[in-house]
Amino acid sequence: MAKTMGDQGGKLGQKMSDLGDRVQGSQAWNSIFRPGSVFRKGYTDSPRNRSYVIMNSVLYHLHPVKVKRHAVKVSYTLCLGGLSFFLFILLTITGIFLMFFYRPTAAQAWDDMYALHTSVTFGLLVRNMHRWGAHLMVLSVFLHMARVFYHGAYKPPREFNWVIGVILLTLTLLLSFTGYLLPWDQLALWAVTVGTNMMGFTPVFGDQVRFVLLGGSEIGTDTLIRWYVLHVLFVPFVTVIFLAIHFWRVRKDGGISGPL
Ligand code: HEM
Repeated sequence: MAKTMGDQGGKLGQKMSDLGDRVQGSQAWNSIFRPGSVFRKGYTDSPRNRSYVIMNSVLYHLHPVKVKRHAVKVSYTLCLGGLSFFLFILLTITGIFLMFFYRPTAAQAWDDMYALHTSVTFGLLVRNMHRWGAHLMVLSVFLHMARVFYHGAYKPPREFNWVIGVILLTLTLLLSFTGYLLPWDQLALWAVTVGTNMMGFTPVFGDQVRFVLLGGSEIGTDTLIRWYVLHVLFVPFVTVIFLAIHFWRVRKDGGISGPL
């Protein structure tokens, strides 16, 4: 009896192992796991395959194989770049939530914001997370820039990444400013009136710049839809591209700068 059960267990084990072999040998499996992956059939522990494991893994790709000791000390970077990125992700997630309840027209925008506060579950919480997150991101990006400056990390070979950083700071401020109009309250209207009037003093093209930003000669629904598209699509899209270049350059410029 015990032998029969043992035989059955053995057969089942064999079947499972055959199935595993078939799955691991299939084209679908091999299209997911690149050559050298430990999950591929016939993986052997060779120096070449070990380096493939590192090169082909997205996680190891994000984090370098070797990190300098000072670079992992929280007291060195104060994690300000990472914090800025975390806030950007938080703002994206909370922003998507807000988009479900907000319509960017002069007739509906303010009512939708009011409904978010009073009748949407977690509406007030998420809106405040978005608003405070935006303020904090401006602060953390600025402090990150100050940290980079203090450590002299703008010097060669990181000058290009400093320039990318300046573009990221500008984009962060643009995200904040374009978001400011969306609640469509008195504060928003007058802030944008002042802002666009100032932009009207741009040399040579002042009037044209103001006209393009307002979608007319004064603030109205056309301005709102313009700023909405800039805020939820255009500026975040450009920011993601520059963030990718920024992170890639941190790696390629030899990781976090440090004492020589
Ligand atoms: C959205 C804004 C930004 C994000 C998310 C961001 C993110 C990061 C991260 C994660 C790092 C590596 C870790 C660290 O230093 O904390 C880094 C490094 C760096 N960032 Fe930024 N950054 C931003 C804006 C800026 C700005 C405004 C500047 C300067 C004008 C800048 C210049 C640099 C430089 C030069 C490095 C290399 C630092 C080193 O090697 O010590 N970044 N950034």
